[in-house]
Formats: sequence, C-alpha cells, structure tokens
Amino acid sequence: MAVLTGAGVSAESGIPTFRDNNGLWRQFRAEQLATPEAFANDPELVWEWYDWRREIIAAAQPNAGHLALVEIERRVPHFTLITQNVDDLHERAGSRNVIHLHGSIFVQRCLRCSRESSGPRPPKCVCGGMLRPGVVWFGEALPPEPRFAAEDAVRESDLLLVIGTSGVVYPAAGLVYMAKRVVEINPSSTPLSSRMDERLEGPSGEILPRLIA
Ligand code: OAD
Repeated sequence: MAVLTGAGVSAESGIPTFRDNNGLWRQFRAEQLATPEAFANDPELVWEWYDWRREIIAAAQPNAGHLALVEIERRVPHFTLITQNVDDLHERAGSRNVIHLHGSIFVQRCLRCSRESSGPRPPKCVCGGMLRPGVVWFGEALPPEPRFAAEDAVRESDLLLVIGTSGVVYPAAGLVYMAKRVVEINPSSTPLSSRMDERLEGPSGEILPRLIA
C-alpha cells in the first residue's frame, strides 16, 4: 500500500494548509516567499517566514490521522508513506517508511556547497556559504531520489490512499495516475476526485481511525 499526504493531514494539528479558507496562500504571496527569485531578492524575509512556520510545527502534535497511518503501516506488509508536507509529524507519530517530496522545514542547505544540516539554523554554512531552507520551491524540480522512490512505490502498490491534498501541485499529484486503485480522503472534492475509485469524505483525523476500526 502507498499513501500520499498533503497539508490537510496536519490541519487538525493546527498547522495551516495552503489553499483552504485560512490557508497560507490566502494570506501570503507564494512568489514573494517560496521561489528561488524571492530568496535572492529578500533572504531575510523568506527566512523570517520559514522560521515562523518552523515554530508552529515544532509546537504542534501529531493527530489521530497521523497515528492511524502508523497503525496501518504496522498491519500491512509493504507500506510507503509519501508526503508533500515539510513538517515532521508523520515521523513524530511513529511512521517509519516516509518519503518527503518537498523536503523538510527543519533542514537548511548551503547555496554554495549544497551541504545539508538539520537542527537550529547557524548564521552561515561551515564553508562560509549562505543557507537556504531545505524545501522545494515553486519553479524547482523535485529531488530525483524521493521522486523516483515514490513513483516505484505507487506502481508496486495495489492501493494508493490520497489524504488531505488539493491535488493541484505536480509532479506529486501525478502519482495518482500511476496507481492501480485510488481512494481519496478529504472533506472537499478536488480536481483528482473524478479519477478516484472511492472517496471517503471527511477530516482524516476522523476517517482514518474509523477505517482501522
Ligand atoms: P492544500 O492547502 O493545497 O490542500 C489541502 C487539502 O486538505 C484540501 O484539499 C483540503 O480540502 C484538505 N483538508 C483540509 N482539512 C483537512 C482534514 N482535516 N483532513 C483531510 N483533508 C483536509 O495543500 P497541499 O495539497 O498539501 O508546496 O499543497 C500542495 C503543495 O502546495 C504543498 O506541498 C506546498 C504548496 O504550495 C510547495 O510549497 C512546493
């Protein structure tokens, strides 16, 4: 089994999604905060925004949906959890086989030597280079390793659960078209809904525990 999660799976932990009514892209402009050009233009502003999001995520706790996915992983023989989220709530809940398509908000990467480090952000890389958030921005390619691992996992699985994603950001959303059977868990319908074999309508923190029961 494979699972693709988006910001909706962390919504019940108090982490804002991007495109819902109170979503980040309703309050902030992506092109000023989440592109390589934005960072080149005003790195301090971009870091301030990511530091603010880091604090929200660090203070949040995994919810019943994250925990149910841990239980599913324990029960099925082959399980891959593919997430677009840059938070660490799947890992903190106890999920083991997790692929991050869009990087991690707790990682910083050097613009000069590409070295990555996690934990508190030092002012500069050990090489003296400037650090950027270790996430994927608009206009950037996905890192190939997680992308291909995710595609393999979806192709090899009998079932893909698509949880809490608006399904508008590619290539992540394209995984749905590689799946044998797809089930969507989301309180709202999405552009991917018509492709689904089944839809379970509701918040993942309620639907996933019920699925196990
Ligand atoms: P979005 O904010 O686009 O979509 C969130 C989805 O979660 C919506 O379809 C909601 O209906 C659904 N949702 C809300 N509350 C939920 C709940 N309690 N349970 C289940 N679903 C719920 O977030 P993503 O699809 O993750 O990328 O966004 C994809 C990418 O766009 C992100 O990874 C980020 C963003 O820009 C980058 O920054 C590269």
